[in-house]
Amino acid sequence: MTTREENELLTRVENGAAMGRMLRQLYWVPAVLSSRLEADGAPVRVKLFGDRFVAYRSTDGRVGFLNEGCPHRGVSLALARNEDNALRCIFHGWKISITGEVLEVPNEVSNPECFRKTVPVKRYPAVEGAGLVWVWLGTGDAPPAPNFEWMNLPPEQAYACGLELNSNWVQGVEATIDSSHIAILHQSHLSNSASDMAATRINTAVRYQFEDTSYGFRAAALREGASGECVARVTEFIMPYYGLIPPINTGKSQDRTVIIAVPVDDTHLIQWYIFYNTERPLDSIKRTQRADTWPMAGGIVDSADQIWGQNRRLMKHGNHTGYTDIVVEDFVTQVSMGPIVDRSEEYLCSADQAIVRFRRQLLQAVRAFEAGDIPRSARPEARDYSQITATGGRMASIDDDWRVLPR
Ligand code: FES
Ligand SMILES: [Fe+2]
Repeated sequence: MTTREENELLTRVENGAAMGRMLRQLYWVPAVLSSRLEADGAPVRVKLFGDRFVAYRSTDGRVGFLNEGCPHRGVSLALARNEDNALRCIFHGWKISITGEVLEVPNEVSNPECFRKTVPVKRYPAVEGAGLVWVWLGTGDAPPAPNFEWMNLPPEQAYACGLELNSNWVQGVEATIDSSHIAILHQSHLSNSASDMAATRINTAVRYQFEDTSYGFRAAALREGASGECVARVTEFIMPYYGLIPPINTGKSQDRTVIIAVPVDDTHLIQWYIFYNTERPLDSIKRTQRADTWPMAGGIVDSADQIWGQNRRLMKHGNHTGYTDIVVEDFVTQVSMGPIVDRSEEYLCSADQAIVRFRRQLLQAVRAFEAGDIPRSARPEARDYSQITATGGRMASIDDDWRVLPR
């Protein structure tokens, strides 16, 4: 049972809340699509953990990431001129290099050469991978940028898209690691398929088994069929906001999905999806479909007063939810709980074990951080992510070991 206090500790990320400070200090965060940043183009405003930033691409192609407010008097650097490998604030012309150095202060009369070197600039390290800019928003020395298997793939093998939703980030993670809704919420998408994902139809009641790992945990959702066979779906949770989803069919060359629930502020998140394939180019049809439908999804999930655009006529004609898009089913259920669901009012069942485990790990981590310790998932030995891949498949019996399924 989650208390009100624990719920606050889990969910709040703004205004110096412990969780926000921990996430910023210990973990890298995907911030913006790389494709939105053009060399010498418009800087892009980004909100994370309730704070405002700008991202931009300099003349030579490097990415800069700064506090949005100009270090002089706070004018938005989204308005700045972007030229000559620097941003120049339009108000008084202070010029900030890509490395965060103030190069010119044209309105200062007394010794501007000395003065400019004293100006503190809030600049953050940034790297690019899988079509996204990743930043580290802590203070001091940055941990190494994450080496996930999708980070260095060519563009045709990794594709990112995201949608901002009116919900706290913890709801986003919990949606991602909840295997038990697959055969119920998404049942209309499973009925015409012989895939491993569709095989979850054999049993709506899930038995969970877990393996604790340094980076988080592996959650095996086991479904037993009538003649004893078993379908395993093994989701990887990587602290603090990654869910690696088992592919629709298991096998080395399958397209894979990771979902990242990034806090924008206390009551909003961006749900980033990265589709990737480590062996071959992604299925191009899937890429275009995603890009087309997601802006529409935003309109649907924001329309609470119209019952989130649910189509009852579809439901009368065999569609379980009244939505034709599988991700909209996920988004709407998550947002319909309200911006920050009151977890002290829940009534959990045995299918919620992954969610309980996630909350416990996150609470342990934030309490350790507050006590001045480094949580297990932020220690150097936990930061090698290169071999982590979600898996699944069919086993002859529920007593077989899912841990030996190929990853
Ligand atoms: S506010 Fe930016 S230069 Fe003055
Ligand atoms: Fe789902």
